[in-house]
Amino acid sequence: MSFLTLNIFRSFSSSSVMNLALKNVTVVGGGLMGSGIAQVAAQTGHNVTLVEVSQPLLDKATSNIKKSLERVAKKKFNDKAQDSEKFMKETLDRLKTTTSPSDSVKEADIVIEAIVENIKVKHDLFKALDQAAPKSTIFASNTSSLSIAEIASVTNRKDRFGGLHFFNPVPVMKLLEVIRTSETSDDTYNKMMEFGKELGKQTITCKDTPGFVVNRLLVPYMGEAVRMLERGDATARDIDIAMKLGAGYPMGPFELLDYVGLDTTLFILDGWHEKYPENPLFKPSEMLKKLVSEGKLGMKSGEGFYKHKK
Ligand code: CAA
Ligand code: NAD
Repeated sequence: MSFLTLNIFRSFSSSSVMNLALKNVTVVGGGLMGSGIAQVAAQTGHNVTLVEVSQPLLDKATSNIKKSLERVAKKKFNDKAQDSEKFMKETLDRLKTTTSPSDSVKEADIVIEAIVENIKVKHDLFKALDQAAPKSTIFASNTSSLSIAEIASVTNRKDRFGGLHFFNPVPVMKLLEVIRTSETSDDTYNKMMEFGKELGKQTITCKDTPGFVVNRLLVPYMGEAVRMLERGDATARDIDIAMKLGAGYPMGPFELLDYVGLDTTLFILDGWHEKYPENPLFKPSEMLKKLVSEGKLGMKSGEGFYKHKK
């Protein structure tokens, strides 16, 4: 049994009785990432509170979680309907939802933020959460590209602040990047690492550096694919086929851009370009900007580089 399988097995089999490092989990933002993080935390025995800005968005997140859980249950229990139903019910029973960020953190051991990739919006949220949460609560951001220390700077708990960077789709992707800043305490770091294992993820540690490990490599690659398309070197479809069949990637760069969200990718590239204007890897793309301004955000809006069924 591999290390990872063992961890997943351990978290699924004994989470309800074992002492979890961080039992009460608040996830703020119920979009692509937040709904996946909330799902996996609930699946592995944590009490989860999911926060969104409105009830319709909470309903949408809950519906997406149910659909994803059905896929997980199908895989895990094959055709054992009773076990499958029990797993779904127990998981959903551990999931609460609210539109009140301050209420959501009252008993939280950890808060994971997964809202829009914008430093000002994240600062406003964390300032409010810092007032409302108990002193002991650990704060984490799932940011793709922003500095964790900069996000943490508006709080009075820099030692209890770190990065937990998950990958899309969260229920499937096995990696969790754990980021510690120069002020993250050993205790916070150790708890975040333990929490990652409880979620069944393989953790790696990275410094608080732009894009951490994966995005520092992946985002410039996607940016270069867009520039290739802008130059007219090949079509999006052919570039995708090339990378899938020539390099063995599960998705081509344009499929991946649509999957990640063009708005999120644009926020990442624009943010890095503003900070590091000399770096050609972070050059913003007019094509990406235009698509986003037209509301073409990828799979989540029904169209990006490709058209998708909603
Ligand atoms: N919830 C639960 N299960 C899911 C799921 C979801 N949302 N999406 C897929 N699955 C499961 C399916 O049920 C299926 O399970 P079985 O193998 O038991 O049938 C399995 O995953 C494979 O799914 P599909 O057959 O539907 O499709 P696929 O084989 O093409 O895989 C994929 C889909 C896993 C998304 C694969 O295409 C892939 O790995 N793509 C690359 C994803 C990637 O690179 N993610 C990282 C993006 S970057 C990022 O996240 C960081 C950032 O900050 C921007
Ligand atoms: P998304 O647009 O799918 O979801 C963001 C959600 O946050 C929206 O539903 C929005 O209503 C909600 N929100 C905004 N402000 C809020 C607030 N103050 N309180 C509660 N909810 C609020 O975005 P996403 O793709 O899930 O990305 C979320 C974060 O995760 C970003 O920081 C992003 O960079 C990061 N991330 C994204 C990916 C990806 O592949 N998309 C992967 C890893 C990390």
